[in-house]
Amino acid sequence: LSTHYHLYQGFWFHARYLDGVLWMQRHFTAADSDTLLVTTPKSGTTWLKALLFSLLHRSQLSSLDHPLLRRNPHDLVPFLEHRLYLESNQSLEDPSFMAFPRLLATHMPFASLPVSVKDSKCKVVYLCRNPKDTFVSMWSFTNSLRLKDTAMDPSPIDEAFDSFCRGVSLYGPYWDHVLQYYRASLELPDRVLFIRYEEMKESPREHLRRLARFLGCPFSEEEEAGGLVDGILTQCSFESLSKLEVNQRGKSASGMENRWFFRKGEVGDWVNYLSPEMIARIDHITEEKLQGSGLKF
Ligand code: A3P
Repeated sequence: LSTHYHLYQGFWFHARYLDGVLWMQRHFTAADSDTLLVTTPKSGTTWLKALLFSLLHRSQLSSLDHPLLRRNPHDLVPFLEHRLYLESNQSLEDPSFMAFPRLLATHMPFASLPVSVKDSKCKVVYLCRNPKDTFVSMWSFTNSLRLKDTAMDPSPIDEAFDSFCRGVSLYGPYWDHVLQYYRASLELPDRVLFIRYEEMKESPREHLRRLARFLGCPFSEEEEAGGLVDGILTQCSFESLSKLEVNQRGKSASGMENRWFFRKGEVGDWVNYLSPEMIARIDHITEEKLQGSGLKF
């Protein structure tokens, strides 16, 4: 791990993205109209990108010719740390997606966000997921990458789990990442919205409406009556997106196979992977780390 990860400002960054993070910290200027979508990796970024893209562009989009039918959500909402997207629009087929108001994504911890994000009035939507499902999803994803890049065998789950628990994971320690944004959402409720994957799965309609209100574009009575809330949710659902040709056989601009972003999309799949000892260990860490914060998974 140490060859790929660097500890910077208290978090583990992949060497491939650290350069982009440093560049963004120096050069990125947030606009008040920006929406920044922040997640811990594997907590539903793909889903939230699809939802926010559809929500914010809804007046210009038709469900029959929707960009999500042809492109993976990651190609519609650029990651800040993939700085190429911002320096030149070469990686994006349609540069108009970088037009204002912008929808941008990042996994950066709160403390590492470019200063202009904190100084501006831009909105931050933060999504996280229970640590056990996050870990299993990340381990599975890493194995897809290992297999493709180096034809390597899957990494043993107990080694990957030990690293995750010690905080050595992509943008980890996981718990510190979540806590920073949770506290920011309490301090700045108009600027930072904190959501958990499990809540979105449980009541997606309520959460889509909540997102719309937070971003200053609530659904009108007409839109509600016309079934737009359900329309967006269906279009962005795991079932719809994972069946599309582009997501079964396509690759995103970053070179990833789109299908890797759609595994099961369920809550609680960790029961199929973690031993009782692993569960006890991670639950103990979660309890200790979140103690007194008011946050629970
Ligand atoms: P699983 O590996 O548990 O299936 P990210 O998008 O942050 O990389 O997270 C990937 C996780 O989100 C995967 O979880 C993936 O299946 C799930 N996911 C992708 N699209 C989704 C959707 N539209 N609805 C719900 N979950 C989705």
